[in-house]
Amino acid sequence: MKKTMTILVTGGAGYIGSHTCVELLEAGFNVVVVDNLFNSKHEAIRRVEQITHQEISFYELDILDKHGLDRVFRSHEIDAVIHFAGLKAVGESCLQPARYYQNNVNGTLVLLEAMHDAGVKKLVFSSSATVYGDPQSVPIREDFPLSATNPYGRTKLMIEDILRDFSTADQLANTPNPWKIALLRYFNPIGSHVSGLIGEDPRDIPNNLMPYVLQVAVGKLSQLSIFGDDYPTHDGTGVRDYIHVVDLAKGHLKALAALNKDFYAEGACRPFNLGTGNGYSVLDMVNTFQQVIGKPVNYKIAPRRSGDIAVCYADPAYAEHALDWRAEKSLADMIVDAWRWQESNPLGYDS
Ligand code: NAD
Ligand code: WQD
Repeated sequence: MKKTMTILVTGGAGYIGSHTCVELLEAGFNVVVVDNLFNSKHEAIRRVEQITHQEISFYELDILDKHGLDRVFRSHEIDAVIHFAGLKAVGESCLQPARYYQNNVNGTLVLLEAMHDAGVKKLVFSSSATVYGDPQSVPIREDFPLSATNPYGRTKLMIEDILRDFSTADQLANTPNPWKIALLRYFNPIGSHVSGLIGEDPRDIPNNLMPYVLQVAVGKLSQLSIFGDDYPTHDGTGVRDYIHVVDLAKGHLKALAALNKDFYAEGACRPFNLGTGNGYSVLDMVNTFQQVIGKPVNYKIAPRRSGDIAVCYADPAYAEHALDWRAEKSLADMIVDAWRWQESNPLGYDS
C-alpha cells in the first residue's frame, strides 16, 4: 500500500499557509505545522480542521529553534517541507532590517540544517515577485534579472541565492539525495477559501490594497488612499497581478508533485511564477469591488508610495508547462470570496 506523504508546513497558520493546509489535507496528505503564531492565530488551524474534518499536528515553535525543529523531524516521517514562515511587511523591513534578516534568512538557514540532518531535501519555498525589482518589461518571465529595493525583498533574494547554492553544491558533489527545490514567486494573493472560515487577518492597519479595501467597505477604516494616479498605466494607478489564494495554494501541491518528476531527478532549484498573467489597476479593483459587492468604497487620490512600481504581472507559461498549473478563478471570484471572509469575520479570527 502506498504510504501517505507527510508535509511539514512552516508558517502554516498564516494566510497562504492555512489555505495550503486545506488543499493538502483534502488531497490526502498528512500535515505537520510549525508556526510561532507571531502573525497568526491558532484559531486558523482549528478552522482548517473544521473545513477538512481532519487533524493537523501543530507545533507552536520558532524556526530559529533548531532543537525544536529536530524534535519535529524525529516525531514525524516528513517527506517534504513547504516553507512559508517569514516576516513580510515591506515598510517595517526598512525600519527593522536586522529583524527581517534574522527571522527570514537565518530562520531559513536553521530550517535547512534541520532538514539536512533529517535527510529531508525536498523544499517548496515562498518567494515573491518582489525579486524582479522594477522589471524592464511585462509580462515577467522567470529568467528576467533579479533585484530588490527593500530589506524584505533582499531577504527573498538572499534565500533564493542560498537555495541555488545548496542545490549546485549537491550537483557538484553528485550527492545521492540531492536538494530538490521549487522557488514559487507569488504575485499578489487575495481572496479567501469559499467557506469564509479562513482568510487574511492583518495584525494592524493593512499595508496591502485588498485588505484595506475590505476594511473600508466594512466600516473599520474610513477611506482608502490610492497611491498615485500619474503612473504610465491605462488609468494612471498601479497595475498588479492579483491571484486567488486558493489557486496559489493549489500551485504548492503541483510543485510538490513536480519535485518527484524526471526534471528534478538529478536535483535542482527552479523558480516558477505563480500569477494569472492579467494586470488590474487600483481603480479597476475598487470599481470591480463596488460592482460585484454593491458597496461603496470611499477613496481619495494620494501621492505615490515610495518604492512602488507602475506595473507588475506574470508570464505564467512556465508554471503551466512544467507544473501543469494555471490560475482558474476570476477577479470577481477573488473579490466575492474575500468579502465573504471579511463580512462574516469583521474582526478576523477574534470575531
Ligand atoms: P503570514 O504572515 O500570514 O504567514 C506567515 C506565517 O509565518 C505566520 O503565521 C507567522 O506567524 C509565521 N512565522 C513568521 N516567522 C516565523 C518564525 N520565525 N518561526 C515560525 N513561524 C513564523 O504571511 P503570508 O501572506 O501567508 O505569506 C507567507 C509567505 O509568503 C511569506 O514568506 C511571505 O513573505 C510570502 N509572500 C507573501 C505574499 C503576500 O502578498 N501575502 C506575496 C509574496 C510572498
Ligand atoms: C498593490 C497596489 C499600491 C495599498 C506588496 C509587496 C510585495 C508582495 C505583495 C510579499 C499598488 C496600491 C496599496 C493602499 C493603494 N508581498 N495601494 N493603496 O505593493 O504590489 O506588493 O505585497 O512578497 O513584496 O511589496 O501590493 O497590495 O501593497 O499594492 O493605492 O492602501 O495598490 O500602490 O499599486 P504590492 P499592495
